[in-house]
Amino acid sequence: MTIVRGTFLDTPTGESAVGAELRVATDAALRVVEGTIVERGSWAELSGRHADDVLDLREGLVLPGLVDTHVHYPQVRVIGGLGLPLLEWLDAVALPEEARLASTDHARAVATEFVSGLAASGTTTALVFGAHFASAVDVLFEEVERVGLRVTAGLVVSDRGLPEPLLTTPERAYDESIALARRWHRPVSPGRAGRTRYAVTPRFSYGASDELLESCQAVLKDVPGSRFTSHVNESQAEIASVATLFPDAIDYVDTYDRHGVIGPSSVLAHDVHPTDRELRVLAGQGATVAHCPTSNAALGSGPFPLGDHVRHGVRVSLGSDVGAGTGFSLFKEGLQAYFTQQLLGDAGQPLAPADLLHLVTRSGALALGLDGEVGDLSVGKAFDALWLRPSATSPLALALRHAGSATEAVARVFALAGPADVAGVWVAGHPVMGEHDTPEHDTHERGTRRP
Ligand code: GUN
Ligand code: ZN
Repeated sequence: MTIVRGTFLDTPTGESAVGAELRVATDAALRVVEGTIVERGSWAELSGRHADDVLDLREGLVLPGLVDTHVHYPQVRVIGGLGLPLLEWLDAVALPEEARLASTDHARAVATEFVSGLAASGTTTALVFGAHFASAVDVLFEEVERVGLRVTAGLVVSDRGLPEPLLTTPERAYDESIALARRWHRPVSPGRAGRTRYAVTPRFSYGASDELLESCQAVLKDVPGSRFTSHVNESQAEIASVATLFPDAIDYVDTYDRHGVIGPSSVLAHDVHPTDRELRVLAGQGATVAHCPTSNAALGSGPFPLGDHVRHGVRVSLGSDVGAGTGFSLFKEGLQAYFTQQLLGDAGQPLAPADLLHLVTRSGALALGLDGEVGDLSVGKAFDALWLRPSATSPLALALRHAGSATEAVARVFALAGPADVAGVWVAGHPVMGEHDTPEHDTHERGTRRP
């Protein structure tokens, strides 16, 4: 039992990020028992009632752990490969590195870097694009389990259009996916989801036959509670190729939808160039689009039509899309999401600071069906949190000192915060930043004690 003392900011209500309401609790306290928040109130009130240990996080801000709904594990070493559009970038940058994950030793090193990259940025929950090799997916889940993050991931499958070492067959894809799901898919138990879950993951229709997508549907059906993720409508060249590869499909979304894999458990990344029909289908099926703003800018995929998604009622969350995206920090993604809409002028969907916080927390939890457990700091939720405590002379510390309101403080966090400002990260009350990836502060102690 621990009482966590600090200033807590979250966006606990609403299905959509747009119009989110910021909740502010100053000199407040959360009582955490076995990783779950059991009481919330003012510090004076809770400390008067309980004599528990105190985790003092007063200096700085406490936010819910961040939720990244689209990030590629094998691409951690190719972040920053700028200058190419999607298909050329895949050929020249991403896929050669992904082929190296055939080596389990290589995969192990990459998995360590990947999982610590997430944790050090304050990401506690993620929907992760795994690898094309089952052995590398095992290695990812082993590392996730060791560190204690919440990760939904799966074997990435393709049976055409990619280099030969990355290809599989529909039968092998089914068998290996089921075997991985048996090892790692922890079914949802009442009130509490498992930390690792399985995601059926065809890379994209550009690299998939109808038979492969059919085998994906079979895995989805045979693994209750599994999720579905893929890419859609990312670049114009990709979309034109998919239209040629699937001459009888109505559009890109239909290449998936006609195999029954689109629904409330699906997260499709990008959707930069959707048609109205596709938006209607995604909204009708309750699917989520993972918006990946730095990736869309880096590859020149185009500006994300957020307003169209919102008007159609399509759920939207945020993804870092490492390694086309330029880093793990969801604060940077939130800021880039804001920039993108600003640059669209009248066609843009304005995003307020609270909307950005919702996008990187509750929107992601909703997308992954984990909103009963994470995404905000209400009673009944797990204590998944990050503590932002910038060093005294950093631009963020100065900006926060002069913020006139909590909303302004959130804006300044998105403008300036990065992994160096993350002083502690917890999942269900357990610290998940190791000795080596905890930022050093010369004047303070570390705050990663277990509540
Ligand atoms: N489409 C298919 N594979 C990928 C990938 O690795 N990154 C991005 N951004 N888009 C993809
Ligand atoms: Zn991606």
